[in-house]
Amino acid sequence: MIDAIIVENLTKDYIEKKAVDNINFTVKKGEVFGFLGPNGAGKTTTVKLLNGLLQPTTGTSDILGINSAKEPVKIREIAGVVTEHAGMYDLMSGLDNLIFYGKVFGMNATDAKTKALHLLEKIDLLDAKDRKLKNYSTGMRQRLSLARALIHSPQILFLDEPTSGLDPQSIQNVNTMIQELAHEQGVSVFLCTHQLRYAQEICTSYGLIDNGALMAKGTLQELEKQIDAKLLVTIRSNYYEGKKGAIKEYQKEVNNEEEIPPMVNEIVQAGGDIYSVATRKPTLEEIYFELLHKKRGGSVD
Ligand SMILES: Nc1ncnc2c1ncn2[C@@H]1O[C@H](COP(=O)(O)OP(=O)(O)OP(=O)(O)O)[C@@H](O)[C@H]1O
Ligand SMILES: [Mg+2]
Repeated sequence: MIDAIIVENLTKDYIEKKAVDNINFTVKKGEVFGFLGPNGAGKTTTVKLLNGLLQPTTGTSDILGINSAKEPVKIREIAGVVTEHAGMYDLMSGLDNLIFYGKVFGMNATDAKTKALHLLEKIDLLDAKDRKLKNYSTGMRQRLSLARALIHSPQILFLDEPTSGLDPQSIQNVNTMIQELAHEQGVSVFLCTHQLRYAQEICTSYGLIDNGALMAKGTLQELEKQIDAKLLVTIRSNYYEGKKGAIKEYQKEVNNEEEIPPMVNEIVQAGGDIYSVATRKPTLEEIYFELLHKKRGGSVD
């Protein structure tokens, strides 16, 4: 697979703070990359650096072979960006906003309108297409800003908290769209979010940033290897703590699957009944906190 985003030793210093501290990573074509980290970690600063909206102090980033800092105009042609404050026009309708941005990107009126209507349908705003933007709800605006970012069919999509104000149905629509873009059209998606359960649903790899520094990166399985991941076993039985009692559910940690049969055997041998045994791997959320905890030397604040 081709690297769509290449970041090398990227650093952004502010007088009082290193907002981004020497980070390195790559994002492949068609990958949905989850960029995760607490408030103030450096996510939005990284998005701005990658899009050439900010100049780095040192280091470089390339998007499809184009240097972000040197050719920001070219970056704008190949990338779509959704941030908290998308510039759109309150007195224009949703449809007209999209057509306007299509034209800014050099599309002719007919193509812009066709693409705009297609996107409005995808984000379930077709019924509201002629309403002025000032009469849109927060979630409707947020969905429209996603459509705006996609009007010129970018090959890279940057999303900074794209679903923070959306209802469950809209989140599902946005997820479907992101997955179609990535898997069917090979668009690379760079997704900043705090919503770790949401991230786990749609991301294919991750970067974890804390205090400007990248503390871990890779697929969920690769991240899992960086912590002492245990398998969590939930048992429902009338036998625990060495004796029989009322049926209850309790959890045990094991290092691997091989440790489960002897554990079950022991309960049965002792005359206990087992109603269910379920295992699960740690979630992204659990891995995230474990990694933060490890890196900060045991104190998560
Ligand atoms: N223009 C600026 N001048 C000085 N410091 C800044 C500037 N922009 C950002 N910072 C600082 O850089 C750090 C990273 O900020 P950034 O906005 O990238 O965080 P973030 O990960 O996007 O956080 P959030 O989850 O809250 O959106 C913060 O400590 C912030 O205060
Ligand atoms: Mg931010």
